Amino acid sequence: MELTARSVRFSQTTLTELMIPSYANFGGKIHGGILLSLIDKVAYACASRHAANYCVTVSVDAVDFLEPVEVGDLVSLMASVNYVGRTSLVIGIKVIAENVRNGTQRHTNTSYVTMVAKGEDDKPALVPPLLLENEGDARRFLEAMKRKELKETYRNAFDNAKTRLDLGGNIEKLAQQRCVLAWEQ
Ligand SMILES: CC(C)(COP(=O)(O)OP(=O)(O)OC[C@H]1O[C@@H](n2cnc3c(N)ncnc32)[C@H](O)[C@@H]1OP(=O)(O)O)[C@@H](O)C(=O)NCCC(=O)NCCS
Repeated sequence: MELTARSVRFSQTTLTELMIPSYANFGGKIHGGILLSLIDKVAYACASRHAANYCVTVSVDAVDFLEPVEVGDLVSLMASVNYVGRTSLVIGIKVIAENVRNGTQRHTNTSYVTMVAKGEDDKPALVPPLLLENEGDARRFLEAMKRKELKETYRNAFDNAKTRLDLGGNIEKLAQQRCVLAWEQ
């Protein structure tokens, strides 16, 4: 039986957290792992709201930190369902760091997390279709489809290239890199 579609707005979730000193690395900036954990948390909240089920993280794409995050910043993570398959959902997460003193906001990264809904039997469970209410929703859905397709192409191409990668024929290439070949060839 097909489930009733749910809008993107239905599950949109924002998580705001203060960056406290214990989150910092030795350079005084916030650990990347803290942000990854918050990304996972907000993705879970958004996905499980849409799916009305527990969800598990399958894959995280495009975590490029564009700006450092400082102690004292307020970090907001805005999550929306961008795409649904049968049992999987892609959640887009925009991360903004705000300096509370001067009010400036920096966009630190946008990431895409694929989650799979699990039923009570712990098997992947069907998720409701996504109700696209405007062109923005539709564009994000299409972009997620394209990302999925390109990821599959990349995975196949890399698997293929990896099996044909010949070490002996590539020693010269390695020698031009900033590495030292420390074994008898
Ligand atoms: C996620 C999981 C249930 C998928 O199991 P599976 O046997 O591959 O199940 P299926 O083949 O039915 O795939 C289920 C869905 O996951 C998607 N999927 C599986 N692997 C994927 C990947 N690497 N990237 C994106 N989507 C993936 C499939 O496309 C499918 O989506 P759809 O139903 O929307 O078409 C299983 O891999 C798992 O339990 N992984 C561990 C998850 C976890 O514990 N995460 C926390 C890590 S600490």
